[in-house]
Amino acid sequence: MSTKGLLPQPITGEIDHLLATNDRARRNASTFRIIFGWVLLLTGTVFSIIRLLYAPARNDPLSNIPIDAAEILDKCRMLNVQPHTPANFYERKQSDRFQAGTNPTLITNATIWSGRLNGLEQFTGDVLLDGGIIRDIGDIDREFVARLDDLVTIDANGAWLSPGVVDMHSHLGVHSNPGLRGSSDGNSHHGPVLPVGPFISSLGRTILTVTQWMRALDGLNTHDDAYRLSVSGGVTTALVLPGSANAIGGQGLLIKLRPTTERSPTAMTLENPYSTNTSEYDPLHGLRWRQMKHACGENPGTLIGTRMDTTWAFRQAYDKARQIKNAQDAYCQKASTGKWDEIKDFPEDYQWEALVDVLRGRVKVHNHCYETVDLDDMVRITNEFKFSIAAFHHAHETYLVPSTLKSAYGHPPAVALFSTKARYKRESYRGSEFAPKILSENGLQVIMKSDHPVLDSRYLLYEAQIAHYFGLPPNLALAAVTSTPAEVIGEDHRIGFLKRGYDADVVLWDSHPLSLSATPKQVWIDGIPQIKVPHVVDKPAFLQNIPKTPDFEREARKTLEYDGLPPLLPNHTSEGTVVFTNVSHVYARKGDSIVEVLGLRRGHDNGIVQVQRGEIICMGEASTCLELNTTGKPTFVNLQGGSISPGLVTFGSNLGLEDIQGEPSTKDGLVPAPLISKVPAIVGGDGAIIRAADGLQFFTRHALLAYRSGITTGIVAPQSQGLLSGLSVAFSTGSEHRLKKGAVVQNVVAVHVAISHSDNLPSVSAQVAALRNLLLGNGEGELGYWFEKVTKGKLSLVVDVHSADAIASLIELKREIEGTTFHPLKLTLSGATESYLLPSEISDADIGVILRPIRSFPSSWEMKRISPGPPLSDGTALSTLLAHKVTVAVGAIDPSLARLTRFDVGWAALTAGISVSTEEVLALASVNVEKLLGVSGSQSGDLVATQSGGLLEFNSKVAAVISSRRGLVDIF
Ligand SMILES: *[C@@H]1O[C@H](CO)[C@@H](O)[C@H](O)[C@H]1NC(C)=O
Ligand SMILES: *[C@@H]1O[C@H](CO)[C@@H](O)[C@H](O)[C@H]1NC(C)=O
Ligand SMILES: *[C@@H]1O[C@H](CO)[C@@H](O)[C@H](O)[C@H]1NC(C)=O
Repeated sequence: MSTKGLLPQPITGEIDHLLATNDRARRNASTFRIIFGWVLLLTGTVFSIIRLLYAPARNDPLSNIPIDAAEILDKCRMLNVQPHTPANFYERKQSDRFQAGTNPTLITNATIWSGRLNGLEQFTGDVLLDGGIIRDIGDIDREFVARLDDLVTIDANGAWLSPGVVDMHSHLGVHSNPGLRGSSDGNSHHGPVLPVGPFISSLGRTILTVTQWMRALDGLNTHDDAYRLSVSGGVTTALVLPGSANAIGGQGLLIKLRPTTERSPTAMTLENPYSTNTSEYDPLHGLRWRQMKHACGENPGTLIGTRMDTTWAFRQAYDKARQIKNAQDAYCQKASTGKWDEIKDFPEDYQWEALVDVLRGRVKVHNHCYETVDLDDMVRITNEFKFSIAAFHHAHETYLVPSTLKSAYGHPPAVALFSTKARYKRESYRGSEFAPKILSENGLQVIMKSDHPVLDSRYLLYEAQIAHYFGLPPNLALAAVTSTPAEVIGEDHRIGFLKRGYDADVVLWDSHPLSLSATPKQVWIDGIPQIKVPHVVDKPAFLQNIPKTPDFEREARKTLEYDGLPPLLPNHTSEGTVVFTNVSHVYARKGDSIVEVLGLRRGHDNGIVQVQRGEIICMGEASTCLELNTTGKPTFVNLQGGSISPGLVTFGSNLGLEDIQGEPSTKDGLVPAPLISKVPAIVGGDGAIIRAADGLQFFTRHALLAYRSGITTGIVAPQSQGLLSGLSVAFSTGSEHRLKKGAVVQNVVAVHVAISHSDNLPSVSAQVAALRNLLLGNGEGELGYWFEKVTKGKLSLVVDVHSADAIASLIELKREIEGTTFHPLKLTLSGATESYLLPSEISDADIGVILRPIRSFPSSWEMKRISPGPPLSDGTALSTLLAHKVTVAVGAIDPSLARLTRFDVGWAALTAGISVSTEEVLALASVNVEKLLGVSGSQSGDLVATQSGGLLEFNSKVAAVISSRRGLVDIF
C-alpha cells in the first residue's frame, strides 16, 4: 500500500509438467523435513532425559549442569525445527476453528474446480461440509450422510464451486473502512527503540526502519465494514500485512474473514504462530509459519533516504540477526556436548527473535518490491544472509527479470500482482498487463492480490479475470487467487483447494469464476454460510464457460522487446479506405442514444463496413457494398464476427492531466483552492476559474492504453483540493497534441465543484453557502461569467458529492436557485455513492448521476451507506436509479483503470439484475456521459471495431478506431 496519499491461452504441456514436477518435489521435501524434525525432537528428548537421570550421580564436570538444562536443550532443539503440519492433521474430523452449532451441509451436483492437478482438475460431484471441514467430496458416502443430524442440502444444479478466495496482500482491519482518524494502524512511524540507524527525518523525527517486532494482530480492527463486503466477493482468508513505510514493517497475520462468536481479533486468526501472550511458537499445534513484511524502493526510501540507505538498513538488521543466530547455535553446540561451564545465559533478544527466525527458515517473507534495481538488491541480500523470500509483492518489473528471481536464495519468490492497476508511481511505470502471462511462461508462481483497500478485495477475482483476459492460462488464473497463495503462505494443507480434510471454505458461483461479473451465490467459511439471504441474479448461459480470450502474443513480445514501454501509437493509420469484413453488429450514436444500425447473426460472415477518411460510407451484407468505390488499395480488416460500437468516454480520473500519480513533475497539479488559501491576484483572485484545456497532457500511457481499449474520448476537470475545480475539457485519447485535428473535442464542457468533508476545508454547510452565493450571481470576473452560464442553464454544473445528506442539500439548492432565475439548472452529481437513497427526489429534480466508481466502496464516512448489490442486496445503485428514470453514466477514479471502462459497464449491467439492452449499456459510458456533462455535437463521435466479439465482452479485442472527427482509421 502506498504511503503517499490514498489520496490468455493455456501454456504448453511442457511447462505444466514442469510446474507439476516442482510441486511434487516441494511436497516430498517438506514431508521429509517434517519427519526429520520429529525424529530429531524425539531422539533429543530421550537423550536429555537419560542424561539428567545419570549425570549427577557420576559426580563429574557435568555437575555444572544448570537446573533448567532440560529446558535449554529443548529450546536448542526447537531452534531447528521447521514449520510443519502435525502428522495426524488429515485425520481430523473437526477443524480447530469449528463453531459449535454449525449444521452439516451437502452441496449436490456442483461443477467443482478443486485446484488440484495444477488447477486443471474439474468434475461434477457433491461436497459434504461437516465439522468445519470438507468431510467428503466427489462421490459421497451416502450412508454417512444419512446418519447426520440437521443436514442442510443445497442443490447446486451444475453451478461452479471453488475454494474460497485467498488474498495474500491485504490491509483489511489495519487501514480501516470507512477511513477514520482513529483506525489507521497500518504503519509504524515511530517507536521507543531504534535497533538500526537512527535516521533523522527532515522534520527532526527519528524514523524506524526495521520494525520486525510489530504485529498486525495488535492493530486489527474487528469493526471494519469491509469484512462482510469482501466475503460477499468470495474472499475467505486474508494475509493482513503492515504497511510499507519501513524496510521491515512487521509481522503479518492470517485471518478468516467471518464473524466469530468471541468477536475478537485473536478468534479470527488462522494458524496463529504465537501462543496467545508471547511471541513464542505454539508447539501444541505443530510449528506454524510466521509471515513478515519487507519493503524496498520508494516507500521506505521516502522515510529513510535513498535506496542505498534502505539496503544498508536491511543488511545491518540481518547482520544483527545473524550474530544472534550464530551465538545461539554456538551456545547450543556447547550445551548439547555438555560444556555447561563454558556458557551462561542463552543469547537472545526479544526484539530480534522474529528476524532470527527468518534466518532459520521459519518465516514467509513478503517483500513489497517493484523495480529491477530493488529486486536485484533483495536477491543479493537473500544470498548474503541465506534466507528465502516467499513472494515479491506489487513487483511490477519482475516480468522483465525472471532470471534475477530464479537466482534468489532457496527458491524463486512467487510474484503477487495487480492486473488492472499500474503507473501510479515511477516504480510501477513499466507495469504490464502481460506480466502474469510472461511470469507464468517462465515457470514463476503468479498471485493476484488486492492491497486492500487500494483495491477493494471484494473484487479480487476480477484481477484474476483480467490477468486471464491478457493471457494468463485459466487454470493458473484461478489458482492465482486460491491455491497458489495458499501454498506460498504455507497453508496449502488446509485452504486453497477443495479436497477431503480441508477447511470448509467454499464458494458457489453464479457463473464461471473467470467470466465477467461472476458473483458468489453463497460463501461458506469453516462450513458456515456467510450470506443470510443471498440475492442471486440469473446469468446468461454463455457466462457458464471459460471466456475464450484474445491472442495477445504479439503485444506481449513487444512489451519485452521495449523493456516494458512498447510504443503505443497505432502502427497503421489509414486516411484512405478501410473495409471491415465479417462484421456482426454495428451500433452508432443517434441523438441522445445508441442504436443498432446493422445486426447480423453471429458467425454470419457476410457483414461488411466500408470506411473512408473515418466515415462509414457503406455497410450491409457483402453484396450491398460490392461496388467498392476506392481510390487506392483498401485495407481489409477481418473482424471475425466482431462488432463496431461507439467509442467510449472516460470521465472522473486524472487521465489527460497526469502521467504518473506519484510524480508531481509528470502532472498538471492542483489548482488554487479559494476556500483554503487566497487565490493570487495574477490568476484572477476571487474571480479565477481554471480551464483543464490549458493543462492537457496528450500522449500519456494511460490515455493511449485507454484509446487502444476503445475509450476514445476523455473528459477531465482541473484537480482541486476542495470546492471549486474549474472548467472541464473533452479530448481525444489517441491524439499526439492539442493542435492536431480533432484532438480537442470541446474546449469547455462544464463547471466542476466538489462538496466534501475534509480536514483542510471549511464545513460542508459553508461549501454549500459558497455555491449558493456563486449561483445567485455573486461571482466576480471569469468565475462570475461562467456561473452566469450555469444559472441560465447553458452549461452543466457537475458536483462531486457522495453523501445522501449533501445530495439532499443540493436538490434543495437547485429548487431555490431555479425559483429565483426561472431557468432550469443543469445539475449532474458525480461520485454519488449514496445517491440511490434518494432516487425519486433526484429524478423529480431532473438531476443526472455519474456513478464513480461503479463498484461502490465505503472508503470514507460520507460513502458509508453503499448499495452493496448481489449477493448482499437486490439491485445496485445503478438499477435503482435506472428504475426511477434517472439518466445515469459510469465514471472512473483511477486513470490506469480507465481502459477497463468497457468491462465496467458490462459488469454493471450484468450485476444490476434488470434487463438492459446492449445499446443502453454502451450509452452508460458514451452518450449518457456526454449528455450529463454537456458535450455537444457528439453525433460524429468515434467508433471502435472489435474482433471476435462485442466491445463489452472478455472474448473480444479492440482492432481499430474509426474516427470521423480526425478523418482516419487507426488499426492496432
Ligand atoms: C445437474 O445439473 C445439471 C445442470 O443444471 C442438470 O442438467 C442435471 O440434470 C443435474 N443432475 C442432477 C443429477 O440433478
Ligand atoms: C502493425 O500491426 C500489424 C497488424 O495490424 C502487425 O501485423 C504488424 O506486425 C505491426 N507492426 C509492428 C511494427 O508492430
Ligand atoms: C468515387 O470516388 C471518387 C473520389 O472519392 C469520386 O470523385 C467519385 O464521384 C466516386 N464515384 C462514384 C460512382 O461514387
